[in-house]
Amino acid sequence: MTLGNDFAGTIVAVGERVTAFAVGDRVYGVKPVSRDGSHASHVVANAACARKAPAHSSAQDLAALPYGFITMWLAARAAGLTRENAAGKKVLVHGASGGLGTLALQTLSAWGARVTAIAKASDFSACRKAGAVEVVDRTQNPFAGLRGEFDATLNFATWDDEAALLSCLREGALGHATTLHPLLQNFDEAGWVGGAIRTLNQKREMRKRLPKGARNYAWVLFRPEAEALSEMARLAELGRLSLPIGTRTPLREAAEAFAHVRRRPAGRTLLIP
Ligand SMILES: NC(=O)c1ccc[n+]([C@@H]2O[C@H](COP(=O)([O-])OP(=O)(O)OC[C@H]3O[C@@H](n4cnc5c(N)ncnc54)[C@H](OP(=O)(O)O)[C@@H]3O)[C@@H](O)[C@H]2O)c1
Repeated sequence: MTLGNDFAGTIVAVGERVTAFAVGDRVYGVKPVSRDGSHASHVVANAACARKAPAHSSAQDLAALPYGFITMWLAARAAGLTRENAAGKKVLVHGASGGLGTLALQTLSAWGARVTAIAKASDFSACRKAGAVEVVDRTQNPFAGLRGEFDATLNFATWDDEAALLSCLREGALGHATTLHPLLQNFDEAGWVGGAIRTLNQKREMRKRLPKGARNYAWVLFRPEAEALSEMARLAELGRLSLPIGTRTPLREAAEAFAHVRRRPAGRTLLIP
C-alpha cells in the first residue's frame, strides 16, 4: 500500500483521451483514498482530479492544498455556505490556525463572509492575515461571548467543543459542519451495524441542539470533488490560497517525515522525490 492523497509535479505522460493536459504541464491535485497513493516519485492520476499550477506559484508548495481545501470546502457546503451565498454571512471557525482553518479563512473571506477565528493568541496575526475579521482566544472560555451570533459554524479543532459551537448559531442559521467526528471510531469499536446505530444516535443528539430554524448539521469525510478542485484552482490563480510549509523531506526519508509530523511542527510537511 502507498499512502498519500495530494500530489504536485510535472506531467511525463498523458492517457489517450486526455485533452486538458500535455506532457510538461505543471499540475497539482488529489488521489482518492486507495492502496495506490501519492507518496511516490511518479503518480497515475485521473485527469479530473488534477488542475494546472498557476504560473507564479511554486509547484511543490501547491501539494499542501488539495486534500485540505476539498475537505474544508465540503464542510463549508455541508454547513450551507457557498461562494454564491456567503457574502455578509457571519461564520465562526474553530481550529482556525490549522490547515483547514487557514484555508477556510482565506476562502470564506474571498467569498465575502465575515469570519471569526478561534485560535491561540500567538496565532491571531496569522488568522487576521488569512482573512479573519475577529479573533477569539481559545484558552479564555471562547464560546461564552459568542452564543446565538453566527450564520454558520465550522469545527476543525476538537469534537469536545461540538455542542458549544452549535450554541453559537443564531435562530434560522445555515448550519454547522465538523471534520472531527467519531464516525470511523464508531465502526472500529462497534462494527458496521453497532457503529451505524451509534453514529445515528450521536448525530440525532447533536441535531437536537441546533437552534430553531437552523438547517444543516453534517459530519464531513474527504472525497475527491471536482467542483471543489476548480474553486481551489480559481482562488490559487488569484493568489488567495497558501499554507505555510514547515518541512521538506526527501521521499526516501518518509518515515522520518511521519515521525516529525507526530511531533506537531508548525506548517505542512512536503515529501520531495
Ligand atoms: N473527516 C475528514 O475526512 C478529514 C479530512 C481532513 C482533516 N480532518 C481532520 O480535521 C482536523 C483539522 O485538520 P487540519 O489539517 O487543519 O489539522 P491541523 O493543521 O492540525 O489543525 C488543527 C487545529 O485545531 C486546533 N486544535 C486542536 N486541538 C484543539 C483543542 N483541543 N482545542 C482547540 N483547538 C484545538 C489546533 O490549534 P493549535 O495549533 O493551537 O493546537 C489547530 O489550529 C484534524 O483533526 C484532521 O484530522 C478530517
